[in-house]
Amino acid sequence: MKWGQWGAQLNQTQMSTLIDECYDLGVTSFDHADIYGAHTTEAEWGLAFQTSSLKREQIQIITKCGIMMPSPQMPHIKQKHYDTSQGHVIHSVENSLRNLKTDYIDMLLIHRPSPLMDPNEIMKAIDLLKKSGKVLNFGVSNFTTSQMLLINSASDVNVNQIEISLFELSAFLDGTLDYCMLYDIIPMAWSPLGGGNLFSSSSSVELLAKRQRLNDVAQKYNWSLDEMVYLFLLHHPAHIRPVVGSSKLERIKVAVDCTHRIISDAQWFEIWTAATGKDVP
Ligand SMILES: NC(=O)c1ccc[n+]([C@@H]2O[C@H](COP(=O)([O-])OP(=O)(O)OC[C@H]3O[C@@H](n4cnc5c(N)ncnc54)[C@H](OP(=O)(O)O)[C@@H]3O)[C@@H](O)[C@H]2O)c1
Repeated sequence: MKWGQWGAQLNQTQMSTLIDECYDLGVTSFDHADIYGAHTTEAEWGLAFQTSSLKREQIQIITKCGIMMPSPQMPHIKQKHYDTSQGHVIHSVENSLRNLKTDYIDMLLIHRPSPLMDPNEIMKAIDLLKKSGKVLNFGVSNFTTSQMLLINSASDVNVNQIEISLFELSAFLDGTLDYCMLYDIIPMAWSPLGGGNLFSSSSSVELLAKRQRLNDVAQKYNWSLDEMVYLFLLHHPAHIRPVVGSSKLERIKVAVDCTHRIISDAQWFEIWTAATGKDVP
């Protein structure tokens, strides 16, 4: 999301090099959406991947559909809305395949739950896409437990990509992660570093106090802040997969290194307590 126009604006050579370097670190899954970079990043990444040293089968591509976002690339979209109709889901995947320069998507996600979505309609699209080999696995993003129950009634859901960070802890308590564990669904955590809020300056007294508490815990264990977040997320028994948003190799490496390390339950609660500002009852 942030390698292209919505962030670092890497050129094709920089993006291609970063893809290769990620692979060398052990990162093989790349997260996209049709709308990233106002509908430009998939195509930029597709060209960059072509000039990387990797073969398609060495990596997994995730992409998303369903948000109809006005942009210069999509002048026919006048009003931001959601479309999870069979026709749109299939059309969007075909567009993503062209942009990403691939024959198949490893994991297709419905980007946002629509109040108008009909699970049977979505499933008809997914069945056709799976039968044609264009989509291998299906998942959702930003779905609540009841929305997952609804969609899971029509088909197998493999992933729910949701916001989880030290700024957004609801998934731990509202049943979202419980549901994932119960039905073997992979929870992916988007904006694990709060989209960078963990580091950016702020005039909010509350945010500064929270950051001070988090810094105190990090310093006590000699962790960097990002390291502390990844260790916290990776410790959870639902096997949360953080979606790393950085465009800098050394920061991506911090996340990868954390997959080989563990913290204690007591340390997890120390981070939780710093994030919430309250002792657990
Ligand atoms: N499903 C959804 O609805 C949804 C929504 C939002 C995002 N996503 C996905 O989740 C991914 C991650 O989200 P995100 O990009 O918001 O993630 P994030 O990892 O929370 O934040 C990434 C941002 O933090 C900055 N950053 C990282 N480490 C830093 C450090 N040590 N010091 C200062 N700045 C630092 C990065 O800048 P640098 O590049 O300079 O490191 C980047 O701008 C996205 O790329 C996208 O694929 C999905």
